[in-house]
Amino acid sequence: MKTVGTVQELRQFLRPLRDRRIGLVPTMGYLHEGHVSLIRRARKECDVVVLSVFVNPLQFGPREDYDRYPRDLDRDARIAEQAGVDVLFAPSVEEMYPEKPLTTVTVSRLTDRLCGASRPGHFDGVATVVAKLFHIVEPDRAYFGLKDAQQVAVVERMVRDLHFPVEIIPCPTVREKDGLAVSSRNVYLSEEEREQATVLSAGLREVAEKVQAGEMTRSRQVIDYLQGRISSKPLARIDYVDVLTYPDLTPVDALQGQRILVAVAVHFGSTRLIDNVILPEKEEVPCSER
Ligand code: PAF
Repeated sequence: MKTVGTVQELRQFLRPLRDRRIGLVPTMGYLHEGHVSLIRRARKECDVVVLSVFVNPLQFGPREDYDRYPRDLDRDARIAEQAGVDVLFAPSVEEMYPEKPLTTVTVSRLTDRLCGASRPGHFDGVATVVAKLFHIVEPDRAYFGLKDAQQVAVVERMVRDLHFPVEIIPCPTVREKDGLAVSSRNVYLSEEEREQATVLSAGLREVAEKVQAGEMTRSRQVIDYLQGRISSKPLARIDYVDVLTYPDLTPVDALQGQRILVAVAVHFGSTRLIDNVILPEKEEVPCSER
């Protein structure tokens, strides 16, 4: 595996490989099983696998965890190499943003709710850095985890609106044995917070079963149930619980078999966790094949 830190080095590495299928796995590092599953999928489907590791300051708000976000490039490199990455792109902030960008990407409406409402500017930062990575790498496919389902919807829409020649591959959320969605931020949790945080996946699983069995037919029932379930944990502080159509992310009342996203964001101490389920549950297909 080659590690490069500059756009020029990466382009030079990729130049002779342009006729091969290039897969990009964009990450902020501190790799976990979720990232590894994206890399493995890219390895299976592509000739060349590029992993980017970049903690993107543009997508963090002023009171968010940019400074304390976990970083360990040596560990990431070991994991990446083992998982089959060909080239690891780990640029500095100066390399990605040599000057304060005057050009950014905004995907409107889809970013009005959920994490877009709680984290103003977050998705402008995500869309901007992902657009930059797509221009730098020019991948045929790019792999994103569905734990960030809103991010997937936003990136897919950006790709459609701006005609990026890349196929977005949404990949299932990877979970710990007890159901907790794997996340780089899980390392912040105390033992007690970690234990109580399993209420997110448990509650989502329960509503998934109830909706699919026809026992819950309105969004309000789903939201009320999840709010009650999550609030039973004393360390949980709810940011949002919402039900929207997917991938359009519009509010929905009667649940009549349309694709819906049930999404939650909850603080445990100073750690904000997100999780979701997309119903009806099925293997995610790339937007080009929908
Ligand atoms: O999902 C992430 O890790 C980040 O939002 C991404 C897509 C790498 C952009 O910084």
